[in-house]
Amino acid sequence: MRRKIAAGNWKMNGTGAALAELDAIAAGLPTAPPEVVICPPAPLLFRAAKVAAAAGLSIGAQDCHMQTSGAFTGDISAQMIADTGATFVIVGHSERREAHAESDSDVRAKAKAAWAADLTPIICIGEELDEREANNTLDIIGGQLAGSVPDAVTATNTVIAYEPIWAIGTGKVPSLDQIIEVHDFIRAQLTKRFGAQIGNALPLLYGGSVKPDNAAHIFAAGNVDGFLVGGASLTARDFLPIISALT
Ligand code: 13P
Repeated sequence: MRRKIAAGNWKMNGTGAALAELDAIAAGLPTAPPEVVICPPAPLLFRAAKVAAAAGLSIGAQDCHMQTSGAFTGDISAQMIADTGATFVIVGHSERREAHAESDSDVRAKAKAAWAADLTPIICIGEELDEREANNTLDIIGGQLAGSVPDAVTATNTVIAYEPIWAIGTGKVPSLDQIIEVHDFIRAQLTKRFGAQIGNALPLLYGGSVKPDNAAHIFAAGNVDGFLVGGASLTARDFLPIISALT
């Protein structure tokens, strides 16, 4: 049985008042819930981790720098994130790859930095619409996996998230067959590179317009072990049914 994970990426949304949603999520969890990871904006990490510790939730950051310290104005190291009580960090989100020109090798270095601080990286990959339309999806995904995932992956130290860029924040979701095709491909690439024991244990999340009304349908894909959710993770009202779809 693989870990099941419902991760919420709040992106640049939420001030202190939003922490009430964590209490509401904790209060509404189903019995035998999946792991629930909330990734709020960095200024909320410390307070969120305090709330989460009592509530059985985990907290993650949305990015980290690849260095431990130094002259990098505005950046945050993995050690600093761990010091807040957070235990996960998203690396290589498409919004960072695009807006901050992050390359696969940057993402790989960030994943290693996360490990060095005892954080679990959630490594994001995903194709653009024109890449899908040109039938290049699996090539792109294969290249991102090879470039972004470091060699020292273990069965428990990493989570992979497939987020087709054209599905993020658009309300457009790939067909179940398209999701199955990519997740099966990722699983096959991981088992080929890291062996069956590690490859079959790594949780694969789907992200991109996951909502209460499509979560159970998407989770029916065998190699989907959970979700990375943007907009619908901002409120307990929307996120709780998505969490419950994983039970
Ligand atoms: P949406 O769920 O808002 O489409 O965002 C997905 C995402 O980018 C999560 O990281």
